[in-house]
Amino acid sequence: MSKTLDFVELRSVDLPACLMLSRHSDPYPWRDENWRRSLRDDYCFALREGSGLIAIAAFSLVLDELSLLNIIVSDKQRGRGLGRQLLCDGLEWMQQIGAQRCLLEVRESNVPARALYRALGFTEDGIRKNYYPSANGREDAILMSTPLPLYTG
Ligand SMILES: CC(C)(COP(=O)(O)OP(=O)(O)OC[C@H]1O[C@@H](n2cnc3c(N)ncnc32)[C@H](O)[C@@H]1OP(=O)(O)O)[C@@H](O)C(=O)NCCC(=O)NCCS
Repeated sequence: MSKTLDFVELRSVDLPACLMLSRHSDPYPWRDENWRRSLRDDYCFALREGSGLIAIAAFSLVLDELSLLNIIVSDKQRGRGLGRQLLCDGLEWMQQIGAQRCLLEVRESNVPARALYRALGFTEDGIRKNYYPSANGREDAILMSTPLPLYTG
């Protein structure tokens, strides 16, 4: 990696950069309003290189239960450990403010994301049938969770 990536918490002012990354690198991008709301109400983080965002993630926290709402790595930067780095840094931050467990939902067809979550110790807890719209109609969601802290070896 030629330049240093900084782990940063995002604010509402980062909305344009989030939307740009989301539109270019998420096959199922959120509506603009979802990012606007998450930046205002949730906990959003990024790996930043200079003024550009390379990876972004959004979490919500209710009492001690954390939900990973989204994570996106720039499609040109995948497979370099950045998704793992952002998720680990975000989980560590959230644990420090009280999160004790993290839940998420992921499309059944999303092999890279499911592998990333498994690699970090998440286990599959169940299925939500026909949860997501997809090109072929509907697609199941896989429910995953992990206690915190993560033990990444
Ligand atoms: C899922 C995503 C965030 C992974 O980011 P990434 O930076 O490429 O992932 P990493 O390089 O950190 O990979 C970490 C681990 O995930 C797994 N993994 C990542 N990409 C994989 C792939 N294409 N196939 C299989 N396993 C993969 C591997 O276990 C990998 O560990 P390893 O490199 O030691 O084998 C990225 O593919 C992405 O942004 N996808 C589009 C948005 C999305 O679907 N987000 C998830 C919403 S639920």
